[in-house]
Amino acid sequence: MTDSPNYAFVCDYIVRHFPKGIRILDFGCGDGSLSALLMKEGFNVSGVEILEEKSTWLQDPAYSEEVRARFKYGNYLNVVPFGDNTFDVVVANVVFEHIQQFPAIVEEFTRVLDAGGVLLASFPTKEAIVEGHTHLPLLHKIGKGRLRKAYLKGFGRWGLGKTRAAAEEYAADWIYYLDNQTFYHPRKYYYKILNDFFSIQDITSDYLRVGSKYLVMHRSGAKHIIGRVVGLLSGWGLFNAIFSRYCLTFWALTKKTG
Ligand SMILES: C[S@@+](CC[C@H](N)C(=O)[O-])C[C@H]1O[C@@H](n2cnc3c(N)ncnc32)[C@H](O)[C@@H]1O
Repeated sequence: MTDSPNYAFVCDYIVRHFPKGIRILDFGCGDGSLSALLMKEGFNVSGVEILEEKSTWLQDPAYSEEVRARFKYGNYLNVVPFGDNTFDVVVANVVFEHIQQFPAIVEEFTRVLDAGGVLLASFPTKEAIVEGHTHLPLLHKIGKGRLRKAYLKGFGRWGLGKTRAAAEEYAADWIYYLDNQTFYHPRKYYYKILNDFFSIQDITSDYLRVGSKYLVMHRSGAKHIIGRVVGLLSGWGLFNAIFSRYCLTFWALTKKTG
């Protein structure tokens, strides 16, 4: 299990804004790293994940039957497999861009969230300058097809120094993931769908402040320096707005009443 500035921020934000023991859904919980940190903070955490192979962490005997029962794995493409008004907070950390049926899942978020509940989400949009998984500039702006594959193959061959065959394999792996499991949408798409159900608050500046402190304290080398620079820049509104639009957005979405 790993930790990251995103996890540090989500835990910090929830601790600052909610009482211990609240009910949290870690939507798209992956290998359970964030869920584990939230449980350690004393929250009542459930999770849902569609990729079965990521569920091995639940075999860990450190987790009781009761905890395991709160985590669900399966083909939940347009449902969230929990009852109405079950959660105070839903966390979706870098998950929006992987949801195939986004509008249906957003309706589900409002159903499982209790009155006044909050959806805490981080996600890159189509406006992002760098494709977040491969770290390649503008790759996600190139439509599916030969050009995208050629970019990946070229980077594998000349950027990473792979053999022709290895570069081909590298490109094929990423193409599968990007073409089938990643869906970039423009910022206004997210705004339009979410605004019907939630009051939207951009908390990217808070994320940059907490996340940069985390990097300074827990990382060395280039990441430490990036933490220091971002920490300084996070006091500047324009930097926060640019980061939110072109790198990663963090929104706190409060369920609307009525
Ligand atoms: C980039 S990973 C992030 C994992 C985790 N949130 C974290 O921060 O470590 C995105 C995850 O969302 C999951 N996912 C995508 N659509 C989903 C859905 N409809 N229901 C549940 N999980 C989903 C993917 O399988 C993947 O594990």
